[in-house]
Amino acid sequence: MNIQWYPGHMAKAKRNIRNDLKLVDMVIELLDARCPDSSRNPDIDSFAKDKARIVLLNKADLADSRSSRAFSEEFRSKGIYSMEMDARSKASFKKLDSLISLAARPVVERNAAKGIRTPVIRAMVLGIPNVGKSTFINSFIGKGAARTGNKPGVTRGNQWISLNDKVQLLDTPGITWPKFEREIVGMNLALIGSINDDILNTEELVFYLLKYLMRYYPETLEKRYGQSMQGFEEALPAFDEIARLRACLKKGGEIDYVRAARLILDDFRSGRLGRITLEHPRNEKESAG
Ligand code: G4P
Repeated sequence: MNIQWYPGHMAKAKRNIRNDLKLVDMVIELLDARCPDSSRNPDIDSFAKDKARIVLLNKADLADSRSSRAFSEEFRSKGIYSMEMDARSKASFKKLDSLISLAARPVVERNAAKGIRTPVIRAMVLGIPNVGKSTFINSFIGKGAARTGNKPGVTRGNQWISLNDKVQLLDTPGITWPKFEREIVGMNLALIGSINDDILNTEELVFYLLKYLMRYYPETLEKRYGQSMQGFEEALPAFDEIARLRACLKKGGEIDYVRAARLILDDFRSGRLGRITLEHPRNEKESAG
């Protein structure tokens, strides 16, 4: 299944982001911890090459913690500050505060060497749709946050948000990119809900998910749907069994794959299937496809 999704408004948003980049010292990239590679805009390294960088693995509460740690480690080994996060909880924000100060230090020092003070660090927040950007910004700034609205030089619609008297965030719209080079990227983004569901073939997507789960998280299906899920080696009979167990049947007893697929996808996205990561860090990368 070759999924591509880059509607016109995103191309425009991308141009605005490139334009606004010259106003910031730092780029904070939100990735989905369930597929950090797939949810990472491939243009980002060239976009942001001279900026301080932080990568946040959001929705870490839904991902396999071992994989998240490995991905975080991989970013750090490339000189990019990184941490796992649940944007809905304030627990990680203290750590993030110190990460921002650390990542900003070279910028502050570079400016100081030129005799320039850096009273405020300006950071652009980037991420694909549904990665949790609004949740992140709302939790981080808390109540009474100052959304300062448009300023000269900033693209209309993008907003500066004062985090405290030292950091300002520039929110941006969630975007994907013109072409997903690997088929798996589109599949993963579809599974995590970052692609408009209306353009997807949910049954095919869930068939892929089942294959992946049976290979990498074999205990998951049994835990969620019951003992009769034990011992399946092929995805299709497992799909049928879940549909039967959850009464996803049409009149006459025929399996309703559309309904069953929806149910399994909802279970995955909400974390009811457990903590699952859809891809592995580079050194151990494989897929079910
Ligand atoms: P966006 O601005 O990047 O598009 O994403 P947004 O913040 O709207 O978040 C998308 C969905 O992801 C929301 O759920 C939000 O609650 C959830 N979310 C954000 N961060 C995390 C996280 O770290 N962990 C988990 N488990 N969920 C997270 P929703 O169901 O669409 O909306 P709601 O009913 O929660 O409001």
